[in-house]
Amino acid sequence: MTDKGKIIETAHILKGAQKLVVLTGAGVSKESGIPTFRDALEGLWAKFDPQELATPQAFRRNPKQVWEWYTYRRNLAAQAEPNPGHIALAQLEQYHPQLVVITQNIDDLHEQAGSHDVIHLHGKLMENRCFKECRGYPTIITAEQIADDEHIPPHCPYCGEYVRPNVVWFGEMLPAAVLERAQDLAFHCDVMLVIGTSGLVTPAASLPLWAKQQGANIVEVNPDDSMITRYANIKLDGPSGEIIPKVLEAMSQIDDT
Ligand code: OAD
Repeated sequence: MTDKGKIIETAHILKGAQKLVVLTGAGVSKESGIPTFRDALEGLWAKFDPQELATPQAFRRNPKQVWEWYTYRRNLAAQAEPNPGHIALAQLEQYHPQLVVITQNIDDLHEQAGSHDVIHLHGKLMENRCFKECRGYPTIITAEQIADDEHIPPHCPYCGEYVRPNVVWFGEMLPAAVLERAQDLAFHCDVMLVIGTSGLVTPAASLPLWAKQQGANIVEVNPDDSMITRYANIKLDGPSGEIIPKVLEAMSQIDDT
């Protein structure tokens, strides 16, 4: 099938979906200037060692280094703006008002683009919580609470323990309620649109597989092949900032009469 044919077929599948769910990964934010993890040259994990920066052990060993790495990522994210892929995904809500976007990304570009229901599997970059969860999980610490704290990292205003970013690190469980909701959506959708993920990190990577096993159509958007590609019903090759707007445009041209 031609690329155009695949776009038109995708438009029909998305428009006809009873329960559409979107799953995104780092690729969807790449065109906003936020590096992916596994890109061979530019990827974060090509330049930095996750074991030194994204584990509770690393934070215990060197809290300053980990905190500063997240400050670097926060600055990158603060400068970033939603790209046409994020915006087109938010516009899909005109056809599916209850649309849920499940994202592995910790930036908030889907929300900035206007998506109303975003599940953050791996947490939120701009939030902080107490490393000891002294008031129960999660003990969120607001920016105001640490505004005058000059320590790096700042200290929890309740117990004095370090404050950490509210993200999921390697070796940590995903927040149970968040994962449960994502699993439920995967089990009950009839179409899952999977964008910009290598499909290498579970449990996120299992969501499309579970959806597929329940009979859902899997549509993938990615310029490269991923672990999802081999079982996707349709694979659209290309950057999401170009592909998703084209799909949306094709949806608008479908005659409903
Ligand atoms: P990866 O870096 O593993 O994969 C990014 C994917 O995006 C690759 O398959 C690229 O081909 C694709 N891609 C690149 N540019 C794109 C574009 N313009 N449009 C669409 N796709 C594009 O990122 P994730 O799969 O999101 O976890 O990584 C999953 C998790 O691993 C992350 O959430 C993070 C990381 O370690 C934690 O930090 C816990």
